[in-house]
Amino acid sequence: MDTQHIPVLRDEVLDFLKPKPDGVYVDATVGLGGHSLAILENAAPSGRVIGIDADAAALAIAQTRLNAFPARHRLIHGNFAQMDTLLASHAVDAIDGILLDLGVSSLQLDTPERGFSFNHPGPLDMRMDARQSLSAMHVVNESAAETLADIFKRYGEERFARRVARRIVQARQTGKITTTAHLAEIVAAAVPSHRASRIHPATRVFQALRIYVNAELENLALGLAAALSLLKPGGCLCVIAFHSLEDRIVKRRFQMSARACICPPKTPVCICRHRPSLRLLTRKPVLPSAAEVHRNPRARSAKLRAARKIAPET
Ligand SMILES: C[S@@+](CC[C@H](N)C(=O)[O-])C[C@H]1O[C@@H](n2cnc3c(N)ncnc32)[C@H](O)[C@@H]1O
Repeated sequence: MDTQHIPVLRDEVLDFLKPKPDGVYVDATVGLGGHSLAILENAAPSGRVIGIDADAAALAIAQTRLNAFPARHRLIHGNFAQMDTLLASHAVDAIDGILLDLGVSSLQLDTPERGFSFNHPGPLDMRMDARQSLSAMHVVNESAAETLADIFKRYGEERFARRVARRIVQARQTGKITTTAHLAEIVAAAVPSHRASRIHPATRVFQALRIYVNAELENLALGLAAALSLLKPGGCLCVIAFHSLEDRIVKRRFQMSARACICPPKTPVCICRHRPSLRLLTRKPVLPSAAEVHRNPRARSAKLRAARKIAPET
């Protein structure tokens, strides 16, 4: 496995974060450490990076890559939804920049035992954090058909959600569904074959299960709120999303925090007393160049939004 790949939108992230020699940065999805490494290199000689990840296996790899800067980084195993508590317990505050590079890493996708991908036969797992008890296997085998259909529709925008859910419940009658390959086979058989598509028929169902198992959208909303409160005025927040459900949450949160008034549209006089706390640095999301997508096809759906925290008006 290539663990030395260039992280998604690396140069664009650096352009927004502008790492300073005395800055403190949080890479809230440190993964294999690609962005952290770039920030540390650009924040020489004394800028620091605190890396967070829910995945202990990713942190072990990041650790070896970041060893070149032992005194300037710290890695924390945890969920970015609890970023404020995690950082407080390590006495970190006054942060200059925070990055969230959402979703799964190539390590997670390409390790069959993690059960994230229909391309690799493996156990149906999909947990980013192995300490968590809820796995995809539990969801697929224990949920009612209506619950499964709701998950596939809500998190995968799957048109044939009910049909797929019914087929799963039928298949369970002959035994437990324990592998990615078995689930992919059931989904492929449930979705009409004439559906013209470039993507594998199980793509949306796998995405939906992963988002649900890891509570990705709930964690994102909590992580954004925590990040905004932790940044110091002038600090920068960068978020890379990989699908529209994530990007919509980021866009709305950024817009709301940047607005002077959040009263309902027809309110005659402003009564919300809301004050903007962010300045948007991207009106439209920044996308990877054609050259980046050519080099790294997994970057193709990435969307980067950035904003700067502003001091509250007095
Ligand atoms: C796309 S990868 C990050 C890759 C990284 N930027 C790099 O350069 O190697 C996303 C990482 O975020 C982690 N992750 C996703 N949601 C998380 C959460 N709520 N809390 C902590 N880590 C999370 C995943 O485990 C994964 O390692």
